[in-house]
Amino acid sequence: MKIGILLSRIRVEEKLLIKEIERRGIEHELIDDRQLVLDLAERSLQGFDVVIERCVNHSRALYALRILADWGVPTVNTYTVAEVCGNKLLTSSALQREGVPQPRVKVAFTPESALDAMEEMGYPVVLKPGVGSWGRLLAKVNDREAAEAVLEHKQLLGSYHHSIFYIQEYVRKPGRDIRAFVVGNETVAAIYRNSPHWITNTARGGSAEPCEITPELNELCVRAGHAVGGGVVAVDVLECPERGFLVNEVNYTMEFRNSIEPTGVDIPARLVDYALAVGRREVVPA
Ligand SMILES: Nc1ncnc2c1ncn2[C@@H]1O[C@H](COP(=O)(O)OP(=O)(O)O)[C@@H](O)[C@H]1O
Ligand SMILES: [Mg+2]
Repeated sequence: MKIGILLSRIRVEEKLLIKEIERRGIEHELIDDRQLVLDLAERSLQGFDVVIERCVNHSRALYALRILADWGVPTVNTYTVAEVCGNKLLTSSALQREGVPQPRVKVAFTPESALDAMEEMGYPVVLKPGVGSWGRLLAKVNDREAAEAVLEHKQLLGSYHHSIFYIQEYVRKPGRDIRAFVVGNETVAAIYRNSPHWITNTARGGSAEPCEITPELNELCVRAGHAVGGGVVAVDVLECPERGFLVNEVNYTMEFRNSIEPTGVDIPARLVDYALAVGRREVVPA
């Protein structure tokens, strides 16, 4: 068994994964995406039973995973998962297709139709870039005047990506949300992310606390994982006072450094277990 780890920088998560792979004495190689050249005919990456993708940059992850898939190299996660999770529109559409509960979402392609959509949805609404993470460039729009201002800013200052409008219902959650870690068919760990700010990402200072994995939460998160193509994913869940758990988004190169200590779950070990199963062809993600 030989594992490849495709990465950009060795962050805490990658360090923990490497440590776990070394502890088990498994042959492995780090593949730095800054130096990597993928020679399509020569198949520059050979001899790997499985490659774990840990890139910081979504486009690098996406293209590398596509090429590896075409070469027949199994990866964690798959190209499909990266493609769907890397884009909030595709994620929401997949969740809807599989009947996974989520906040209402509307997609519009012009500032005028986006304004109509927000007015119809009722304020506050949340406007998000289709591709993005760490809570950046999210806008909670509280009224029509704010909507007009944000739309004008996007139109005049934004790139093409900002002319695709992802509009989501604002969920009045209880000062926290849930981040659940799914490995294949199981939710292995979950935390509450508490924050006085409506954006609770730990990358933005939210604090982590353990969250009990009830059968309901487990089933919802596993369904969300399957909807985006399976594998190892982190699911953001919002607690809606009226409708209960709603899936906000699904992340595919999951960050787990702040969740090991509060949950006591060895998340990197579970990830390595899964990668080994994929490498042995015991698990074939959808
Ligand atoms: N519709 C919403 N209602 C309430 N809170 C939200 C909503 N959308 C996002 N948030 C908050 O903002 C955080 C970041 O949003 P998210 O969609 O997960 O973007 P990112 O990809 O940047 O993490 C969420 O974890 C949640 O705390
Ligand atoms: Mg998120």
